[in-house]
Amino acid sequence: DRTLTLLGIESSCDDTAAAVVRLGGAGPEILSSVVLGQTALHEAFGGVVPEIAARAHAERLDGVVAEALAAAGVPLAGLDGIAVTAGPGLIGGVLSGVMLARGLAAATGLPLVAVNHLAGHALTPRLTDGVAFPYLMLLVSGGHCQFLSVEGVDRFRRLGGTIDDAPGEAFDKTAKLLALPQPGGPSVEAEAALGDPGRFRFPRPLLDREGCDLSFSGLKTALLRARDALVAEKGGITLQDRRDLCAGFQAAVAEVLAVKTARALELCGVRPTALCVAGGVAANKAIRARLEAVAERAGVPFLAPPLRLCTDNAAMIAWAGIERRRAGLETPPHFAARPRWPL
Ligand code: KG4
Ligand code: ZN
Repeated sequence: DRTLTLLGIESSCDDTAAAVVRLGGAGPEILSSVVLGQTALHEAFGGVVPEIAARAHAERLDGVVAEALAAAGVPLAGLDGIAVTAGPGLIGGVLSGVMLARGLAAATGLPLVAVNHLAGHALTPRLTDGVAFPYLMLLVSGGHCQFLSVEGVDRFRRLGGTIDDAPGEAFDKTAKLLALPQPGGPSVEAEAALGDPGRFRFPRPLLDREGCDLSFSGLKTALLRARDALVAEKGGITLQDRRDLCAGFQAAVAEVLAVKTARALELCGVRPTALCVAGGVAANKAIRARLEAVAERAGVPFLAPPLRLCTDNAAMIAWAGIERRRAGLETPPHFAARPRWPL
C-alpha cells in the first residue's frame, strides 16, 4: 500500500493551525503540527471576537502553513492532498482557511478534502491509538459538549449533549465571577484542589432526566448566588471561601459528566471498544478520574489523547482527511464553508 501525506489546515475558532500527517505501512505519523493561538488578541473583550479572529487567521495562515511544511521537511509537491476545516465554526475564520486551501489546490493540482471540525476531534483516538469502531467519544471543551458514538469514518451518532453552556464555558465564567485568571479551567482546578467540595452543594441539572443531555447554565447561577450571599454576609469572600466554591462547582460538573457518561455507554447499544475524551476540559484531573472510574465499572478501556491533540489543532484535520481518502469519500469541488454543520 502506498503512503498518504496530507497537509491539514484549521482556523474555525481562535487557533490558527497547520500540520502534516503521513500514513505509511507502520501507521500514522505526525510530521509537524503548528498551532498559533490568539488568546492575547481577544483577552480584553472577555471572549473570542469573530472579526478579530478572522483577520488574524487571514494574516497568519500562510506563515503557519509554511512553517508546518518546513518542520515536516515536505514540500507542497510532496503532498498527496490538502485537508481543511470547512465548518462548523466562526465563518470568517473558516473561510480564511478554505480560501487558502483552494488557492494551494489550484496552484498545485492537489485534491482538497473538506473536513468537519467535530469529526476531526472525534477521529483523533484512531490517529493516536488506532482505536477500532465503534467507540464512545465525549467531546468537552469551551465550545462543545456532546456524546458521539463513532461508528465509521463518516458515521457518527449523537447520543446527547449540552442544552445550554459547554462545561469549559462554565469553568471560564466561574473564574470570572471569582476574579481568577483566564482560561478558567486550570485556575478553578488549582483552587478546587485546596477546597472542601462538601461545603457548597451545587445543583446537578438534568440528572433525573432520561438520556444523556446535560445542562451547565444553572450551575453558574447557583455559584453567583452563593458568592453574593457570602458578600452580603461578610462584605467579601475569603481565600478559603473561593477554594470551597471552586471545589463545589468542580464536583458538580464532574458528577454530572460521570453520570451522563455512564448513561451514554448504555445508549451505545453494542459495546464500544473504548471511552475516549477530547477537548480542553478533558485535562481536568478530577473529571478525568471520575470518567476513568465510569469506564472501569463498564469494563471499557479509557483513552485520552495527549492534550495538544485534544484541543484545537490541524493534525486531527489532516488525519480526518486521510481517513476520508482511505474510505473513498469524495469532496465535491464546490463544497461550502459552513458556520453550522452537525455531524
Ligand atoms: O478544547 P479547547 O482548548 O478549546 C475549545 O473550546 O475549542 O478548550 C478550552 C476550554 C476552556 O474553556 C478552558 O477553561 C477549559 O477548556 N479547560 C479546562 C481545563 N483546562 C482547560 N477546564 C477544566 N479543567 C481544566 N484543567
Ligand atoms: Zn474544537
